[in-house]
Amino acid sequence: PEERTLVLIKPDAVRRGLVGEIISRFERKGLRIDAMDVRTMDAALADAHYAEHVDKPFYPPLKGFMTGGPLIALVLSGDQVIDVVRSLVGATDGRRAAAGTIRGDFSLSNRENLVHASDSVDSAKREIALWFPELS
Ligand code: CMP
Repeated sequence: PEERTLVLIKPDAVRRGLVGEIISRFERKGLRIDAMDVRTMDAALADAHYAEHVDKPFYPPLKGFMTGGPLIALVLSGDQVIDVVRSLVGATDGRRAAAGTIRGDFSLSNRENLVHASDSVDSAKREIALWFPELS
């Protein structure tokens, strides 16, 4: 089915000049860009976006990283886009992500892993409402 997903091109990717490379992979796959904006996460948005992680030990450094510089927020759409984007992005830990995926090709980190992508229809709805309320 046609779906939408929220993608964040994280501050490490912006800092490293990988934004074009990453967006290009989504475009070449045939996905549509429904919204895109440069944003800087503040503490409140980080806590809301990562509500399921706020109590985990890795959250404080994750929050520092995600609020530490500009990122690109985008909404992508297409057939089964949630799973399609997750397979293009690869496993969370860049050291274990398969070659050919964005993380597998460009990240050596479990935290600075370049991209966030919604993991289910429900989380996509919740995250799009948070970042682009005008779309929901
Ligand atoms: P993301 O898809 O944005 O969702 C949660 C983020 O937390 C994840 O990508 C990583 O950036 C980070 N993360 C997840 N697990 C760990 C971990 N074990 N150690 C450090 N960071 C993590």
